[in-house]
Amino acid sequence: MPEKSVKKAILTIENGPTLELPIYQGSLGQDVIDISQLVANDHFTFDPGFVSTASCESQITFIDGDKGILLHRGYPIEQLAEHSSYLEACYLLIYGELPSKEQKEEFETTVGKHTMVHEQLRTFFSGFRRDAHPMAILCGVVGALSAFYHDSLDVSDAKHREIAAFRLIAKMPTLAAMSYKFSVGQPFMYPNNELSYAENFLQMMFGNPCEDYKISPTISRAMDKIFLLHADHEQNASTSAVRLTGSSGANPFACIAAGIAALWGPSHGGANEAVLEMLEEIGDESRIDEFVARAKDKNDPFRLMGFGHRVYKNFDPRAKVMKETANEVLTELGIENDPLLKIAKRLEQIALEDDYFISKKLYPNVDFYSGIILKAIGIPTSMFTVIFAVGRTVGWIAHWHEMHSAPYKIGRPRQLYNGHVTRDYVPLNKRPKAAKAD
Ligand code: SDX
Repeated sequence: MPEKSVKKAILTIENGPTLELPIYQGSLGQDVIDISQLVANDHFTFDPGFVSTASCESQITFIDGDKGILLHRGYPIEQLAEHSSYLEACYLLIYGELPSKEQKEEFETTVGKHTMVHEQLRTFFSGFRRDAHPMAILCGVVGALSAFYHDSLDVSDAKHREIAAFRLIAKMPTLAAMSYKFSVGQPFMYPNNELSYAENFLQMMFGNPCEDYKISPTISRAMDKIFLLHADHEQNASTSAVRLTGSSGANPFACIAAGIAALWGPSHGGANEAVLEMLEEIGDESRIDEFVARAKDKNDPFRLMGFGHRVYKNFDPRAKVMKETANEVLTELGIENDPLLKIAKRLEQIALEDDYFISKKLYPNVDFYSGIILKAIGIPTSMFTVIFAVGRTVGWIAHWHEMHSAPYKIGRPRQLYNGHVTRDYVPLNKRPKAAKAD
């Protein structure tokens, strides 16, 4: 709990008590009101979607949605994207500081020692249909890891938590690539620990046993940057799912499987796949206005995928980096005139000029450009959220580890109940004849 309150909120409940609620101040961002007294005064707060609720204290990531700021342990995402690497960012997110040269080498070597999965896990894949969505496979296989690693399940043991972290960071690319290979009927590729994290992922995805896989430095750099830009994002839906699952003492693999499941939704990590589907549905710049009108129509459930964010009411700083990376990759591949990129750029321009988007502060988010890069690299749309999950695994682990590093309570929100009040059971022969179900 925070040490001391900086001021108080006075809450007077009509015909009830006046409460003095402590207000705590963090190092950055909004102050928080401690409402823990409410339950003793027979009240809950009501905040569907947790729009104005701080669920925990954290030191990992800070987001300023109005200014479009994203810091990982205080370092701006723009600087990490330019100078760091995904594995170095993993070290930073987990341990809180940038590693020394020796610490970086040791961390990378340890991750390398865990990239293979148990051979028995390969049989799990044959239980799926070949057309299974890779996220369905990843959910199942990651959750099953707890059946293999009994030496890293004691969540109260910091060493167990550290081994589990290494295993998950190291094995996610291997499992992700296996999900893809299974869907295209190609043999699984083993990891090659001579390669960097991103290079290894690309060779497991696109390599085959019949020839050497040639790695493009631009593509592997873009891949590493995509993992880094997705590494963590404060208390988003999937990270909150991991924390809530972890608060019951569930093992790390079950917690990460919960995060993968939450990330899959199109409003969250599934948006990158939905962006590409949307761009392909628009198909031509001449149809953009039709889709923008639909996005603005309250009676039409259609939304511009890749736009808007619960926190960012400014440009998502990751989207800016992603846009530069998209230009680099498409130029390297000689497809800078990609029709989908042209539609995307036109959509972005409209959104930045149109009153509807400006008034609702709907800017491109991390998912808007990532799909264009992934498609250019040759990754199928169904794998986009899997890539997001690979990158976000370290964020989930860092928050899970942070939760376990201090006293915590099981997460147990309450509700505003407006169902039936108490009523007595009615025997079957006394019930009114219900209208025939049509
Ligand atoms: C991620 O939380 C995170 O940090 C997530 C993430 C991470 O790294 O973990 O950043 C990753 O999930 C990014 C978001 C990816 N999702 C999408 O791109 C899907 C499209 N975006 C929306 O569904 C929406 O913007 C959300 C879900 C992202 C945010 O929704 P909110 O905060 O609940 O806002 P809202 O739905 O209440 O929208 C506010 C208004 C509404 O209009 P009104 O009811 O006020 O009239 O804006 C409208 C919405 O209809 N609106 C959109 C829109 N997004 C919101 N209108 C058209 N197109 C959109 N994309």
